[in-house]
Amino acid sequence: MRLDKYISSCTPLSRKDVKKLIKDGAVTVDGAAAKAPDDKVGENCLVTVNGKPVTLKKSVCLMLNKPAGVVSAVSDRDYKTVIDLIGEEYSYLDLFPIGRLDIDTEGLLLLTNDGALSHALTSPSKNVYKTYFARLDKEAEEEDIAAFAEGMEFKDFTAKSAVLEICENRKEVIIKIAEGKYHQVKRMCAKRGKNVVYLKRIAIGSLALDLGLAPGQYRELNQEEEELLKNISGI
Ligand code: URA
Repeated sequence: MRLDKYISSCTPLSRKDVKKLIKDGAVTVDGAAAKAPDDKVGENCLVTVNGKPVTLKKSVCLMLNKPAGVVSAVSDRDYKTVIDLIGEEYSYLDLFPIGRLDIDTEGLLLLTNDGALSHALTSPSKNVYKTYFARLDKEAEEEDIAAFAEGMEFKDFTAKSAVLEICENRKEVIIKIAEGKYHQVKRMCAKRGKNVVYLKRIAIGSLALDLGLAPGQYRELNQEEEELLKNISGI
């Protein structure tokens, strides 16, 4: 790969920036100053910019605590998107959200540039459970637990068996669903005569939202979480 392409694909630098840095002698390849933007580099070359090694980042996954008021999309005409919350240092990575949360839903949203990972986590056949905390306008009843466990019939789809746990405050529930159909949690609760007044996703499979992340904050997954995700997605 050309040196300028290599560096611009793994840093926020443009090819024009890289050209200038090469001219200024700030780029080295395997210890020697780089000569030209079209120098060829391979996967095993050690490339540095201003003394710091740059490595091709094949795939990245960020955990975001999505705040209410932003849409789970890469771009939108009317609303701020989850991608607008992410800093410049990730802009060259072409991140996108894995699945969707409604505009008023908060909580765990993964952002990645890895299409295979996204597919594996959202494919209904993989049965990856998503866990939500919901606050309802009425108290949940024991019958709701059985109704969720049975699955529910809607005009456009059949919700598979889901788990509903009632918290000490009976207007608060934990819900686990295997699919991610449009408004699924809200629709399942509505079918039981309860409206969701607050919704937050707290886990995807066994990957839990970092409670240290305030709404709008994000971070890369640590190694342990990446392993968890590999197990959950099977890739
Ligand atoms: N179910 C919903 O109703 N909304 C979400 O954002 C996610 C699941």
